[in-house]
Amino acid sequence: MPLVPPYIESLRPYQPGRSSEEVQRAYGLSRVSKLASNENPLGPSPLAIEAMARCLGSIHLYPNGGLDLRRVLAEEYDTKIENVIAGSGSEGIISNIIRTFLGDGDEVLTTDAAFLGFRVLAQSRGVAYRTVPYRDWHYDLTALAGAINERTKIIYLANPNNPTGTIFSKHEFDEFYRHVPERVLIILDEAYFEYAKDTPRYPDSMHYRYDNVITLRTFSKVYGLAGARIGYGFAHERLITNLLKVKLPFEPSTLAQAAGVAALSDKEFLHKSLELNARGLKFLTEGLREIGLTIVPSEANFVMVVLPDAVQAAQLTTDLLKQGIIIRPLAGWGLPNCIRISTGTDDDNQHCVEAIQKLEVPLTPRV
Ligand SMILES: Cc1ncc(COP(=O)(O)O)c(C=O)c1O
Repeated sequence: MPLVPPYIESLRPYQPGRSSEEVQRAYGLSRVSKLASNENPLGPSPLAIEAMARCLGSIHLYPNGGLDLRRVLAEEYDTKIENVIAGSGSEGIISNIIRTFLGDGDEVLTTDAAFLGFRVLAQSRGVAYRTVPYRDWHYDLTALAGAINERTKIIYLANPNNPTGTIFSKHEFDEFYRHVPERVLIILDEAYFEYAKDTPRYPDSMHYRYDNVITLRTFSKVYGLAGARIGYGFAHERLITNLLKVKLPFEPSTLAQAAGVAALSDKEFLHKSLELNARGLKFLTEGLREIGLTIVPSEANFVMVVLPDAVQAAQLTTDLLKQGIIIRPLAGWGLPNCIRISTGTDDDNQHCVEAIQKLEVPLTPRV
């Protein structure tokens, strides 16, 4: 019996993207635009920074397990504290879900090239990880419903989806849900919820408070707190109670929780961030299409570009890096001919489009 199980041995440690400073040094650049990790280009909410500073003097004390944030969220969403969980980012909560609900012999089901964080966490549990192909870069909910078997335990849906940026509609979800047995847990990962919430066909999962659905959201994206590690979820109290048994008792950290509570109240920052993103999405989508690139229409804070082949996608990634633009190649997700570009400041977005204009990029048909 090997010391490390084969399903762990076959995984690879997460490779963080290159930092702006590193790229600046490597290529002797005066300016770098980091458009690789769907972070908020405005930085953190100022109220969150103040709140963290205020609690620095008490970090010799253990945190209270997310109680303050759960209370605030319960009030904000008109639900009970027993229906809310807080954790170290939404990935922290996904990790708890995997440990709480999956047993040996269970299977998880999702789309091809789903959010990598989910794939790695599910595979690290050693269970079967099954996927169905995208339909036109969207989750194929009909195919997913058809792929459910007696071993299926978790179905993972990100809406909007990373890395495609696409959403499924309320109508599609309602139709899908009718086919899902109650013994199957649906994770609705809404890391990019705020960007899509005003799109009329977008389903607000707070209306789906079914017993087998858990909604996950995060402060890492529009609230600019990716480095603090703070996320939350809503579900039936039976699910939350069991998650709380498995969760590390002291996550989220005191600083992360204080940042989250403050960020939630910072409506001005939220508004500014959403406006900037809407402008950025339009600018990148239109600007890159004008150059002739294939852009998948996005409802999140990034766009996916589909290149004719893997060589051209890798070439574009390198060429942009040399000009100080860090984007995310998607080969590791199983999409070697695709790249993902996050929206930045207005300057970053312009920097990116101008840099691509200068290159000889192959022209591809529009989506
Ligand atoms: C779909 C999706 N879910 C979850 C996460 C992780 O978010 P967090 O920082 O809250 O762990 C990301 C981050 O990129 C994401 O794209």
